[in-house]
Amino acid sequence: MSNFTNFFSDLDKGELKIWDLLAQGVVNKKSKFHTPTISTFNGNAINSRTIILRKVDRKTKMLFFYSDTRSRKVLNIKQNNNVTAHLYEPRFKLQVQLYGYANIENKTEKTKGIWNSLNNFSKKNYLSTISPGEKINSLANLNYNADNEEAFYNFSLINFKVSKIECLQLLNINNIRVEFVYTESSDKKYYMVP
Ligand SMILES: Cc1cc2nc3c(=O)[nH]c(=O)nc-3n(C[C@H](O)[C@H](O)[C@H](O)COP(=O)(O)O)c2cc1C
Repeated sequence: MSNFTNFFSDLDKGELKIWDLLAQGVVNKKSKFHTPTISTFNGNAINSRTIILRKVDRKTKMLFFYSDTRSRKVLNIKQNNNVTAHLYEPRFKLQVQLYGYANIENKTEKTKGIWNSLNNFSKKNYLSTISPGEKINSLANLNYNADNEEAFYNFSLINFKVSKIECLQLLNINNIRVEFVYTESSDKKYYMVP
């Protein structure tokens, strides 16, 4: 028998639960919601990677991530703003697929505030002299800039507006699949055939 709750016997409560789990994922490093996989499209191929969920705003249905401005994901998003995020939380046998649109925020008051709040260890992720993803002949070529204005420019906030959440929960009796759709004019919730 499953020893966890079926989140979606009530669609309203199920939706609240998903946003609760997303919010908890920001602070709980053990949660699978802390490290979703986000996928972007470069016009030709899909690229997927793990990323840390930094902030959630359930009111505006926004998720926030940090990345290097020079990274492939940021370049992809600038080219095509369609983004998906995916995670599977085995504690609840729960798959969550988030669909939406992202934009890149760089060199703003907000990114400056976040940048100033980062510790040196976190900042190092944005300090490499050579762009992330570039091939190097040896690890000796791996050099880091000091924390300066150029380093700050490498820091980007990914603002991800969720337009749809699809969830599948595996249960002993029957699996449950649901969808939450967010548009400008209304929010809708559905059960789906799993
Ligand atoms: C646990 C974990 C957390 C990660 N968090 C981030 C992150 O918050 N931001 C980020 O840009 N990359 C993060 N990465 C690295 C990305 O998965 C990826 O390797 C890197 O950003 C290059 O991706 P890209 O070339 O597709 O842009 C993380 C990787 C792991 C394994």
